[in-house]
Amino acid sequence: MARHLITSAIPYINGIKHLGNLVGSQLPADLYARYLRGRGHEVLFLCATDEHGTPAELAAAKAGKPVADYCAEMHDVQAEIAAGFRLSFDYFGRSSSPQNHALTQAFAGRLADMGLIREVVEEQVYSNADGRFLPDRYIEGTCPNCGFESARGDQCDNCTKQLDPTDLIDARSTISGSTDLEVRETKHLYLRQSALKDDIAAWIGSKTDWPILTTSIAKKWLNDGDGLQDRGITRDLDWGIPVKKGTEDWPGMEGKVFYVWFDAPIEYIACAQEWVDAGKGADWERWWRTDKGADDVTYTQFMGKDNVPFHTLSFPATILGSQEPWKLVDYIKSFNYLNYDGGQFSTSRGRGVFMDQALEILPADYWRWWLLSHAPESSDAEFTWENFQTDVNKDLADVLGNFVSRITKFCRSKFSEAVPEGPDYGPAEAELIANLSAKLADYEGHMDTMEVRKSAADLRAMWVLGNEYLQSVAPWTTFKTDPAKAAMQVRMGLNLCRLYGVLSAPFIPDASADILAAMNASDVTWPDDITEAVSALQAGHAFTVPEITFRKITDDERADWAKRFAGIRD
Ligand code: 2FM
Ligand code: ZN
Repeated sequence: MARHLITSAIPYINGIKHLGNLVGSQLPADLYARYLRGRGHEVLFLCATDEHGTPAELAAAKAGKPVADYCAEMHDVQAEIAAGFRLSFDYFGRSSSPQNHALTQAFAGRLADMGLIREVVEEQVYSNADGRFLPDRYIEGTCPNCGFESARGDQCDNCTKQLDPTDLIDARSTISGSTDLEVRETKHLYLRQSALKDDIAAWIGSKTDWPILTTSIAKKWLNDGDGLQDRGITRDLDWGIPVKKGTEDWPGMEGKVFYVWFDAPIEYIACAQEWVDAGKGADWERWWRTDKGADDVTYTQFMGKDNVPFHTLSFPATILGSQEPWKLVDYIKSFNYLNYDGGQFSTSRGRGVFMDQALEILPADYWRWWLLSHAPESSDAEFTWENFQTDVNKDLADVLGNFVSRITKFCRSKFSEAVPEGPDYGPAEAELIANLSAKLADYEGHMDTMEVRKSAADLRAMWVLGNEYLQSVAPWTTFKTDPAKAAMQVRMGLNLCRLYGVLSAPFIPDASADILAAMNASDVTWPDDITEAVSALQAGHAFTVPEITFRKITDDERADWAKRFAGIRD
């Protein structure tokens, strides 16, 4: 049994995330966490809301609420939706927690002690119309690197280059649209990432098994000329973690807060402290401190590709720079983007399906299955209603749902609601067992390496094998001439239902639980061996016919939803 720490990128507090966000971090992280737990490993799966920065301030202002109240409410909203999707976080924390305040301030103090912080009096963009300094994200302009016209002050979404607002050409305020911007002096703290460049390069260079998407982005920013620059870690804002040197005031930094991207990843650690302080865990240090047992932990992070520079360069700079025994990430699984029906999901225009809406129209498993089986791994992927309808109907209703319903109903009508007696398995069953064993090995291999689409294909292939078996041995025909043999075939079918319940749980936990409950299964442990697994339910074992596991999506629904989610949400 190994120990696995898993974190998903922590979603911004403002607003409800769309399905593209979900499949890029939280959902595959949940898949992996469920799989590892299923295999008997000890897992700590953490996520939180990312609550600082101007987007939170502005969203709160728009909602007419104090920002702290707004964040508390939105945290609960996001937690409830996450529960609706069955995201099995061990703890869903908040980057605004007291634990994160203290830890972020402690990191900054430590980095200063290590000589890695410099104070810089810099020129910052001030908007006269808005009466405030403009944070990077609230300045837009043309990217000096690629010419994209809506590059943000902190990063260009087109070429992913990390930017400084003053790099932008033709800058404007996105709050008011005003171009009446001026540059004023203000003092900020910079983390001397440049001093850590060799350490970080060596660390990334050692990660030969990481996805190419992750390492290519990391190496690009490390090696491209201006690569690892010193990074401003403070901002002129009201809402955030006040700048302190550990527990001491930081002279000259009064009224300033840490940059949201400095404190957000530190929340991964603080979240484990919150988990303990909430009475849900006993010891966070054995997950995070290599001097307290965390050297045995395998730490995996999940995120969209836009988050990769912060997790491969900036956060490791914080950890390495501290020279304290913090756990560094072992594997970063990153994702491309999911597009929506010929364009992009758009939060501002309400284009695409958002997490709350998804759950209003269909149960979580339908979304989980489609999203994971189409995860944007090797390239961007696209959600279309046609594809969603076709694949969900085929995979879930026709293949898995139909299998379970057909065999349980047949048994009830010809035998009873108990596994029937019959002879030992014969050659057809031996062949099925061999095929299932091979697919199970593929499935485990792909799940171990977090190849999400391939894992889904392997699981689906195991469902198909069951259908092909039933189709070829046809117990309904066998029954007419040899009821005992038909009983044996049904026994296999019922055992497959239990097996599918166990193996499918990481993808579709609710349907799996329903199937296992209907099969009245007491042993739901991951199979070591298919031969044993298909003999778990013995003759006489009572079961029930489950309610319809999956229904089909109709053409009318598809047309309705396509229209409803086309754009402009209030
Ligand atoms: O892109 C985002 O949604 C960010 N809120 C992710 C932060 S991940 C981390 F650093 F905590
Ligand atoms: Zn660009």
